[in-house]
Amino acid sequence: MSKEVEVFGKKVIFKNNICSEDGNGVEDWYRTYNLYISITDVCLASCPFCNNNTIKKQKFTDKKFDLEKLKEVLKELKDKRLLNRVSITGGEPLLNLPLLNDVTNAIYDICGDKQYVTINTNGVNLSKITQLEKLDNIAGIHISRHHYEDKRNDEIFGFKTVGTDEIKNLQDKLSNKKLLRLNSLLIKNYIDNAAEVEKYLEMAADLDIFRVGFVGLMRLNSFCDENYVEYNEILNSLSKNCIVVSKLKNKSTCDCANGMYLSKSGKLVEFYSRVVRDLNPSEAGQFSYTADNKLCAGFGNVIY
Ligand SMILES: C[S@@+](CC[C@H](N)C(=O)[O-])C[C@H]1O[C@@H](n2cnc3c(N)ncnc32)[C@H](O)[C@@H]1O
Ligand code: SF4
Repeated sequence: MSKEVEVFGKKVIFKNNICSEDGNGVEDWYRTYNLYISITDVCLASCPFCNNNTIKKQKFTDKKFDLEKLKEVLKELKDKRLLNRVSITGGEPLLNLPLLNDVTNAIYDICGDKQYVTINTNGVNLSKITQLEKLDNIAGIHISRHHYEDKRNDEIFGFKTVGTDEIKNLQDKLSNKKLLRLNSLLIKNYIDNAAEVEKYLEMAADLDIFRVGFVGLMRLNSFCDENYVEYNEILNSLSKNCIVVSKLKNKSTCDCANGMYLSKSGKLVEFYSRVVRDLNPSEAGQFSYTADNKLCAGFGNVIY
């Protein structure tokens, strides 16, 4: 169920099973791994559930992001046929547009224009994504938005971020209607039951967003423990406007469900729910590259 992978001369143990209905895994010796690139650990928000927030870094980090080292890492993972999707994250990646532009250019230069790349953002500077030279290649921009009302959403972030009007404005201008996606964490007193999930999906339909993720809190701190909402309980009480199409597990590490929602105006919105239950699995399931230039197996085991 695991395989030894050699990266930059170091041997590390990765999973080699893929997700399945019963979670017991289908062996796939040729499976590849997602790479999460954190281009900065700076963020102006103060989300109570976020590990990054515990650092409360509000100034740009002293340690310069090493683009040349990232290129070396991308080449190594590509040459060893280990690379699946790339996700650019942080901190807040849209706080440094020039660096985000350089990083996306480097990824496509090395991995080719078909490489699947997404960006995670809290929505700050969202309209500036049109300045990215490779915007047409980017598969998705995942906007974290934890409530359908702007005010309640800003309350969670602890500052004013992008609102529905601005998202709709941008969506109307974009030719790729699948670029913008929304991600909501399931948090007690926010999106925490089936009716709230459906109100959120109505908002997404109004904005012409085609896919929404509802994500369970990873238990990173006491806020996450106290405000955790189980997505499976919500799925059981959804109305007939929702249909759950598939459910998958990867051992007891993580699980997800995928479905469709038919809005009041007749639009279809895809949705998924997922949660990572085991924060310290014995085998790594992804690579990460940190804002201070370390390639890790999983999120902590430094390889290079
Ligand atoms: C650390 S953030 C960085 C990108 C950007 N600042 C944002 O908020 O989208 C990346 C993703 O992690 C999610 N996240 C943060 N803390 C989490 C937690 N305790 N459980 C699950 N997801 C979490 C955020 O909602 C976001 O989708
Ligand atoms: S916006 Fe993203 S990085 Fe910033 S505190 Fe919230 S989850 Fe963490």
